[in-house]
Amino acid sequence: MSAASWSTRGSIAVITLDNPPVNGLGHELRRGILDGLDRAEVDPAVKAVVLIGAGRGFSGGADIREFNTPKMIAEPTLRTVIRAIEAGRKPVIAAIHGMAMGGGLELALGSHYRVAAAGAQIGLPEVKLGLLPGAGGTQRLPRAVGVETALNMIVSGAVVPVEQLRGTALIDAFVEGDLLEGAVAFAEKVVAENRTAKLLSDVPVSYPNAEGFFEFARAAVGGASKGYPAPLKALEAVAASATQPFEEGLRTERALFLQLIDSPESKALRHAFFAERAASKIPDVPEDSPTRPIRSAAVIGAGTMGGGIAMNFANAGIPVSLLEVKQEALDKGVATIRKNYESSAKKGKLSAAQVEERMRLVRPTLSYADLAQADIVVEAVFEDMGVKVGVFRVLDEVMKAGAILATNTSTLDVNHIAGFTRRPQDVIGTHFFSPAHVMKLLEVVRGAKTGKDVLATVMDLAKKLKKTAVVSGVCDGFIGNRMIEQYSRQAGFLLEEGALPRQVDAALEKWGFAMGPFRMADLAGNDVGWLIRKRRYVEKPHVKYPRLADRVCELGRFGQKTGAGWYRYEAGRRDAIPDPAINELVVAYSKELGVERRKISDEEIVERCIYALVNEGARILEEGIALRASDIDVIYLTGYGFPPFRGGPMFAADTAGLYNVVRSMKRFAANPHGDPGFWTPAPLLARLAAEGKTFNAAAETRP
Ligand SMILES: NC(=O)c1ccc[n+]([C@@H]2O[C@H](COP(=O)([O-])OP(=O)(O)OC[C@H]3O[C@@H](n4cnc5c(N)ncnc54)[C@H](O)[C@@H]3O)[C@@H](O)[C@H]2O)c1
Repeated sequence: MSAASWSTRGSIAVITLDNPPVNGLGHELRRGILDGLDRAEVDPAVKAVVLIGAGRGFSGGADIREFNTPKMIAEPTLRTVIRAIEAGRKPVIAAIHGMAMGGGLELALGSHYRVAAAGAQIGLPEVKLGLLPGAGGTQRLPRAVGVETALNMIVSGAVVPVEQLRGTALIDAFVEGDLLEGAVAFAEKVVAENRTAKLLSDVPVSYPNAEGFFEFARAAVGGASKGYPAPLKALEAVAASATQPFEEGLRTERALFLQLIDSPESKALRHAFFAERAASKIPDVPEDSPTRPIRSAAVIGAGTMGGGIAMNFANAGIPVSLLEVKQEALDKGVATIRKNYESSAKKGKLSAAQVEERMRLVRPTLSYADLAQADIVVEAVFEDMGVKVGVFRVLDEVMKAGAILATNTSTLDVNHIAGFTRRPQDVIGTHFFSPAHVMKLLEVVRGAKTGKDVLATVMDLAKKLKKTAVVSGVCDGFIGNRMIEQYSRQAGFLLEEGALPRQVDAALEKWGFAMGPFRMADLAGNDVGWLIRKRRYVEKPHVKYPRLADRVCELGRFGQKTGAGWYRYEAGRRDAIPDPAINELVVAYSKELGVERRKISDEEIVERCIYALVNEGARILEEGIALRASDIDVIYLTGYGFPPFRGGPMFAADTAGLYNVVRSMKRFAANPHGDPGFWTPAPLLARLAAEGKTFNAAAETRP
């Protein structure tokens, strides 16, 4: 069956794009459209052609199921289909409803006329995958909507309602009522009036002072897109539309497109795109697994995390009870929630009515009896096994049968917690990140006895809460924090050996991190790591930890919240100001250790910190804590400020080549300071490096 269907309305042929869910322009569909165009061309009864989409919209663009497959570039390509429209003798009218994105919009732009239904949205989002529109979009859109508007759309990848572009050559007519009827009537009119075929490629672009404008735009786009080559290349392609004849502009677009498709940045962004899709797939829990309905929720503990978690439920329209032991703590928690909502309202993100609606969904209580009927309860009390166990014992007593009992613990053993209930199959970890109402990442911790339906329900719930969920097995720190501990250790050793906090942060920020490790620690609170380390000193006395961080804490420098940490902070500001007192402390500490400080290159800083993540990631993968390398990448991209154009730590290692990663590790192991044992490559890493393989085999992340 073809993905495009053919029918006629009198003298008008109708080619319907029918490739659910979004009429992605896969090989079958492209061939179907071309067959339809060819048929129309030779059928004397057909005077014009309407292209229309079945279902939700015209077309969402490339069919992502074909990414990384030969079908993606197999003939007929989209460029061939558009050439056929342009070479044909009969007018083609694209009828747009819902959305026309990427290649979908390029197909419409290649048609002679475009009609649209109200509410349709268009966009060329290729730049978000590190690419640019490769089927004439950069040449035709400026001819349709003007150079400046087109440039903004293409460089940002923004989705724009067609109504906003009324009055431009983009849409020839807006159709009220049935789109197909309207499009056919429009086509009949074109035929009846014997209008000459009208192509955007024939429209000259006149843009006075193009050079001056593009010079200015280059500076603006270049400044805003550090680390990302696509926006600037897209700009050059749009510039070609204003300075070169159409055919030459197409060739320029093609050349720039080919440069990008092979760029490491685009490969990383495409990897991230597929990795996020793959993360929701659990091999032994198929997507159609039964789930439990979640109509109401409860949160225990209205502190930093509990309040944010409750907001997630309220934002999704799910009523949520919020329980504390003392009225004062409850009031404080509720007040913080209101403050957060009101600050969103001030920014125009919520109306006053929405604030009240969400506050109504949050139901503060001091009594467990009020939670008993909730479908899911998330515990977010102090990180103390004794306190958690107390809470879970009560939950086991009061919660209705079938309720999901979730814990937000960041380090404690979920199996142990589950063991204190008579229903371990209902217990699961939901590890939110701070601030919980903002951060997208949710680590879903699957206990040894967690029921498959419970896991499926929480993965489903995550989507409703607009979170990116990644499954983790049970281990200390789960995936993200277990790895970050090794990264922080390296950052600490680097200080002992010769670097200063600002240099370490700057090197990693230059590499692309949103924030270096010391600025990050100051933001999160140095006391948090201190508490964990104190536990580690007892649990793992054989592991060497850089103790400078403890000295900083002993001075009461917990970070931003105390006005000083690894940096100093001025009242009311968040800028991290290097502090000579810390530099002196660092240098004196090296002396105390008897370490002769040396100059450390930025490259060494980056490699040691990133490869520390990679080596621990490899262990996590091997132990089956993570289901796939790309899941680790998703965690770092969505929860830890890892630069998207690097694709995540495991992808970055693949890009560097695992052989080279192992070689660097051997070099680090020879360093007399630090923890040489840590640099023994994880067996999985050593094996893949020896076999010339990668962590992220392409097939793993294909949808
Ligand atoms: N803060 C973070 O960045 C972060 C991130 C991820 C996970 N976590 C985890 O989330 C949990 C909560 O952390 P937090 O930072 O929100 O702590 P917090 O101290 O801000 O809040 C804990 C709240 O729980 C309340 N509480 C304590 N015992 C209780 C009990 N028995 N019944 C009801 N309420 C009780 C306290 O009054 C307090 O309001 C911890 O397990 C922590 O490890 C924290």
